[in-house]
Amino acid sequence: MEWTKEMRYRRLEEIDINEMEELKKKVNNSEWRQSFHIQPETGLLNDPNGFCFFNGEYHLFYQWFPLGPVHGLKYWYHTKSQDLVTWENVGVGIKPNHDYDSHGAYSGSAIQHNDQLYLMYTGNTRDENWERHPYQVVAKMNNQGRITKPQQANITEVPSGYTDHFRDPKVWKSGDLFYAIIGAQRENLTGCAVLYKSDNLLDWTFLGEVKTQLNEFGYMWECPDYFELNDSGVFIFSPQGLEASGDDYQNIYQSGYIVGQKLDLQTKDFSHSRFNELDRGFDFYAPQTTLAQDGRRILVGWMGLPEIDYPTDQDGWAHCLTLPRELTIKNEKLFQKPIIELQKLRKSKQVVEATLTNETRKFFSGVTFELICELKEYNSTQFGIEIRASDDEHTSIMYDSIEKKIIVDRSKSGQSLAKEYGEQRKCTMSDDHIKFHIFVDVSSVELFINDGEEVFTSRIFPKKESDEIRFFANGGPTTFYAEKWDI
Ligand code: FRU
Repeated sequence: MEWTKEMRYRRLEEIDINEMEELKKKVNNSEWRQSFHIQPETGLLNDPNGFCFFNGEYHLFYQWFPLGPVHGLKYWYHTKSQDLVTWENVGVGIKPNHDYDSHGAYSGSAIQHNDQLYLMYTGNTRDENWERHPYQVVAKMNNQGRITKPQQANITEVPSGYTDHFRDPKVWKSGDLFYAIIGAQRENLTGCAVLYKSDNLLDWTFLGEVKTQLNEFGYMWECPDYFELNDSGVFIFSPQGLEASGDDYQNIYQSGYIVGQKLDLQTKDFSHSRFNELDRGFDFYAPQTTLAQDGRRILVGWMGLPEIDYPTDQDGWAHCLTLPRELTIKNEKLFQKPIIELQKLRKSKQVVEATLTNETRKFFSGVTFELICELKEYNSTQFGIEIRASDDEHTSIMYDSIEKKIIVDRSKSGQSLAKEYGEQRKCTMSDDHIKFHIFVDVSSVELFINDGEEVFTSRIFPKKESDEIRFFANGGPTTFYAEKWDI
């Protein structure tokens, strides 16, 4: 079906109940609905927004186009949770119903101030010539969860020197002041991020560009996020326009980070290490972090990418969010571990210890599960795990001890997607110790290597019947110790 502009900009409020019910029915019949990930009831989900702890609960919003699996008029959809594991669907959080957000309530963030939650986001608008005019808007949510939007936008102009690609404010507090970092494109069509400050979250002063060493690094930086962890400054962003190079930058767009000394809020200087990708998998973009109640820094990403067709499109929905990950920092590198609370999902447990030599063997089966596999001794050239496997399908997770690389292969995962971007993802990993920690849902796999040193997040679309979990070792023996929990 061709999605015309009219169809993409139809409002949720214009849809009659029957049409919505039909769409829900179609979505509910989809064989790839997830079981423990945040996913849209209908339509398309993209970036996580407004992630925060407020009034005794976690709140996590996301970009939502309700009416189909395409990018159209975006709403903020609101979910909340006591424990970051079980999420309640609250309903629409922000409707794009003002002049300043007539073409979408785009991405943004949240911060508590004076007993209210301030939601700062980009109002996307288009004029008669379809030219974009972005506004930055601050809405407020009270203790009852009621959200009110302002009469006027809070930042109405793009500063000179930048194009209309100017969006996704992430706000934080330092001392008595609030700061917002916004993704931008310079007039010379290179990406960057700019800073604003405010003493009340409503009136903002432009401070200028964050000065990094990445002056020509893609054409637009989306969804910036800045925070401090163990006395370092961490700047996460999603640059568009990087060319693939070796194992890096294989997806259509990237998400990664630079670490350095704390951002100097006076000079805006940020001296930093090299850019590292946050995730080496096929489907990850536009993450956002928040502080947990106990001070942990938690990240959630969009398990999807723009401009890629997904097999669920035919069922009227697309995408989900990743599981929350706890961030820590070691030698200027972010480690990402699944949050400990996810252990609540664990049901029955099975354990296996076995040595395999030049063979593949089925140890377990399951469609939704958590698996931890430690490699005690290995003398194989290649060893690993096949999940969602059957006679003709499997997703392979492997260590190649000659190349010294982790390799994830989805060429036999089931219905294919984004083949033009390749069907393997790899990254280098030294071989002194390998541990795989895997969460598999109906249509996704999140793989954490060596306690979060690298992460691979991917959607997969196998048949229901492909439920074997197999282990393999080639070119010598490997001893596997594996624990698996049904979810
Ligand atoms: C990133 C992004 C943001 C924008 C939003 C619109 O995926 O393009 O830059 O605010 O999605 O949905």
